[in-house]
Amino acid sequence: MPSSPSPVKRILGVVGSPRQQGNTHVLVAKVLEGAAEAGAQTDTLLLGETEIRECDGCHACWRDKPCTKDDDMNDVYPRIVAADAVVFGTPVYWYAPTALMKAFIDRFVYFNCPDNHKKIAGKAAAVVVPFEEDRPETADLVVAFFEKCFQYLEMRLAGTLIVPGVTRRGEVLAKPDVLARAKDLGRSLAASSRPGWRTSSEVGDTNSR
Ligand SMILES: Cc1cc2nc3c(=O)[nH]c(=O)nc-3n(C[C@H](O)[C@H](O)[C@H](O)COP(=O)(O)O)c2cc1C
Repeated sequence: MPSSPSPVKRILGVVGSPRQQGNTHVLVAKVLEGAAEAGAQTDTLLLGETEIRECDGCHACWRDKPCTKDDDMNDVYPRIVAADAVVFGTPVYWYAPTALMKAFIDRFVYFNCPDNHKKIAGKAAAVVVPFEEDRPETADLVVAFFEKCFQYLEMRLAGTLIVPGVTRRGEVLAKPDVLARAKDLGRSLAASSRPGWRTSSEVGDTNSR
């Protein structure tokens, strides 16, 4: 009999807002708190605290060379590779991810060659998106962007947390129901096993759309 798949152990939370202790930071921290309570090891990456420059497609990374940008991303790649699941948090900025998050994802070109692709394929992903407007559809482009990227990277979308109606720094702290959903998402991520990840609806669909 094949042994049962091992549960997720390491979860990397990426905060794509430049605002520390903002809504994205609070929500990603809650997801990681839920994951830690369920036994996962967690790691937090604040993109606003890093220097991650634009990818210009030189493809040094495809030739097993460090990125020519020589910035913080060279230390971040091993943290992504070590993770079983990655939580991508970004507020909506002009109906899109923040520039910080877009630059970060652009650097995933690293994973586009066969040797590196296997370092990311099969990992789970979750998406956390707070924003000001009241209509959940405001996040549609952001979610579609991540879905396309995950499809290409062969990552599995395990859950989304869409949070309309938050504007000021940390305003989401006044929404205990949303914080509870964030923790549930973290617990689900930690409890899921690598092969056969569940879809977002099976995870209890934290998406309010
Ligand atoms: C440059 C910029 C663009 C924004 N664009 C939108 C937008 O298109 N739609 C929206 O609902 N909120 C928009 N917002 C509001 C943020 O999404 C909202 O304040 C969010 O809670 C910020 O998250 P944070 O606290 O993690 O930074 C924008 C904010 C900024 C600074």
